[in-house]
Amino acid sequence: MGKLVKWTQDLSVGIEAIDDQHKRIVDYINQLHEAGLSNDTKAIGRVVDQLMEYTVSHFSFEEALMDQARYRYAASHKKVHELFTRRIAEYRHRFQLGEEVAAEMQGTLIKWLMNHIKREDMNYGEAVRASLGEKGPKPQEVAAAAPAGGAVRKFFGRT
Ligand SMILES: [Fe+2]
Repeated sequence: MGKLVKWTQDLSVGIEAIDDQHKRIVDYINQLHEAGLSNDTKAIGRVVDQLMEYTVSHFSFEEALMDQARYRYAASHKKVHELFTRRIAEYRHRFQLGEEVAAEMQGTLIKWLMNHIKREDMNYGEAVRASLGEKGPKPQEVAAAAPAGGAVRKFFGRT
């Protein structure tokens, strides 16, 4: 089955762990698309839950890196994450009420993800890369120190 959306090199923020997470979100969007096509309500529900959980963890991870890098726009970036988390939660709520949300949700996710990566995420790339440089702590150490450490460690645990 053809994929709805693909991660391409122009979406790279230059940080492997982040790129991997973005690729996984892209995978989830494709899964949502497939579940929607086959009208499999159970599968849709499962992907919606996973998308929500994974996106929230991904945001905590990005925020931990931005804080550690003392990135100057971290606060406004967090606001964007907050808004988007609320949006996904709304979709999930509508799904739970029996609405068909898959098509609309995947459209919103694609538009948002591409724009967000190309704008906000690209912008922190340089600062975070610098702080992850030779002098800075390793991503594993950031993960261990982050408030959402468990969720954050998960990503590095996969590699
Ligand atoms: Fe972000």
